[in-house]
Amino acid sequence: MSQARVAILLSGRGSNFLELHGAMVRKEVPAEIALVVSNVAEAPGLEKARSLRLPTVCLPHRHEATREAHEAKVLAALGRAEVDWVCLAGYMRLLSASFVAEYPERILNIHPSLLPAFPGRNAQEQALEWGVRVSGCTVHLVDEELDHGPIVMQRVVPVHDDDNPISLSARILVEEHRIYPEALGRLLTERWRISGRRVIFS
Ligand code: GRF
Repeated sequence: MSQARVAILLSGRGSNFLELHGAMVRKEVPAEIALVVSNVAEAPGLEKARSLRLPTVCLPHRHEATREAHEAKVLAALGRAEVDWVCLAGYMRLLSASFVAEYPERILNIHPSLLPAFPGRNAQEQALEWGVRVSGCTVHLVDEELDHGPIVMQRVVPVHDDDNPISLSARILVEEHRIYPEALGRLLTERWRISGRRVIFS
């Protein structure tokens, strides 16, 4: 089976990126990382990618006058790297509709809640404030709305009475690291289609 060429877009720590990379190296996911893009120069994930000698590019959005100008640079880098799929891994930028249209149904995101509950930042704090008894994580295809596209995989995580944002985030992160490679692997190796908002594996 041919290897999919995957770009990672990140802004921070990069633990999900490392899990995806590990699964590819172990051949659990038939893909390779063609490029790691960060919009934050100091992102630890960017440094980890460099130390793994993966192709990287840092494209700070603050240097650009408009969202379009920044996205044009990201798209140009993805094009040069001949990317098939894009995995957002803690990328703190909303993608425009025209960006998403360049990779239709080929952009994935991971979010630390059971969407559609608690989209946006601080999902774990939102879950604690609401008082839910379970939360979890979601891998979804990306559209132009925040944390919104069709859901590929979810995993439920209990919320304990003595949880704080740090303890809940850590418990959810364990499952993020499992389902992100699993979801990408399924999308790359199985037949699937989208029906309404549903991703149907057949
Ligand atoms: C994860 O919780 C992910 O769900 C969210 O941002 C965080 C990124 O963590 N989108 P990391 O950079 O992958 O460690």
